[in-house]
Amino acid sequence: NCRIVFSLLALMTLLSPAALWAEAPRQLIFSHVVSPDTPKGKMAEMFKSVLEEKLGDHFEVVIHANADLMDDDEAVTAIAEGRIHFAAPSLSKFEGYTQKLKVFDLPFLFPDMDAVDRFQESSTGQALLSSMQDKGIVGLGYLHNGLKQLTADRPFTKPQDLAGLRFRTMNSDVLIKQFELLNAKAVPMAFSAVYQALAEQRIEGQENTWSNIFSKAFYEHQPYMMISNHGLLDYMLITNADFWSGLTDEERRSFQYARDMSLRYGNAVAKAKSSNDMRELARMKSVSVYEPTQEELATWQAAMQPLWASYEELIGKKIIEAAQQAGR
Ligand code: LMR
Repeated sequence: NCRIVFSLLALMTLLSPAALWAEAPRQLIFSHVVSPDTPKGKMAEMFKSVLEEKLGDHFEVVIHANADLMDDDEAVTAIAEGRIHFAAPSLSKFEGYTQKLKVFDLPFLFPDMDAVDRFQESSTGQALLSSMQDKGIVGLGYLHNGLKQLTADRPFTKPQDLAGLRFRTMNSDVLIKQFELLNAKAVPMAFSAVYQALAEQRIEGQENTWSNIFSKAFYEHQPYMMISNHGLLDYMLITNADFWSGLTDEERRSFQYARDMSLRYGNAVAKAKSSNDMRELARMKSVSVYEPTQEELATWQAAMQPLWASYEELIGKKIIEAAQQAGR
């Protein structure tokens, strides 16, 4: 009996397709904090599908959305240490690794997304992608979400209206100081904690893009919104430097192809969602979207813009000037 079983096993080994014995594809973790139905969520899915179509025998991209694996501050460290493979944190979340990206947080620096495109595509913008390489982080490209809007639990039209209110910010000292200039109190916290903090009235306001306000239902506790377009929420698609340099040239080309396709797609989604989600919010009976006049907007600019000068040395004058140039 033993001999029969043994012979059968030997026969199976000989006849089995090689695939049966091939190694399972290597799992690559892509961690992010937003809903799947957002520019970043859609971009991650496209990246997975294009990459697996090309290299699916070798790699599988496992996406963790909604901060279900970790929040963004941890994701940046996890990329640097090679514990995860891809993330696309907001440009405001890299201050532990470089000061230069703070340029993207300066209020009212970019008048519109075309200016952002021009700056990101310029030689200065492209050089910022490798500003964290010595710390293990490779920037593969920029992804848009869009311009940020101010929201609160009470009506506001002037900077003074926000005095004393607690505003959630990302963990970025530029953003913290921006609210301090308005005499509001900045409360830095992870994106995944914002909804609950609003619901429990631990914060009275926040700033975010139309798609984040909409997809995370912040409007349920923030019925007052202003079309302020005062700041930028964009992302950098990042990977670990050793992982990236360890790929073969051919593999890297496929990853670059997946990057190009998915960023282009994500940017198109960002553009569409920015106007659609704003329209959806403006249509809600419970929501009031205030459109400031040019004069009113100028008072917000005057209140926040002093930040530029105080960050000139840290960020670098040339970088700020290149960004300004892109906006002209
Ligand atoms: C936030 O923390 O508000 C954003 O960075 C969330 C995101 O990734 O869009």
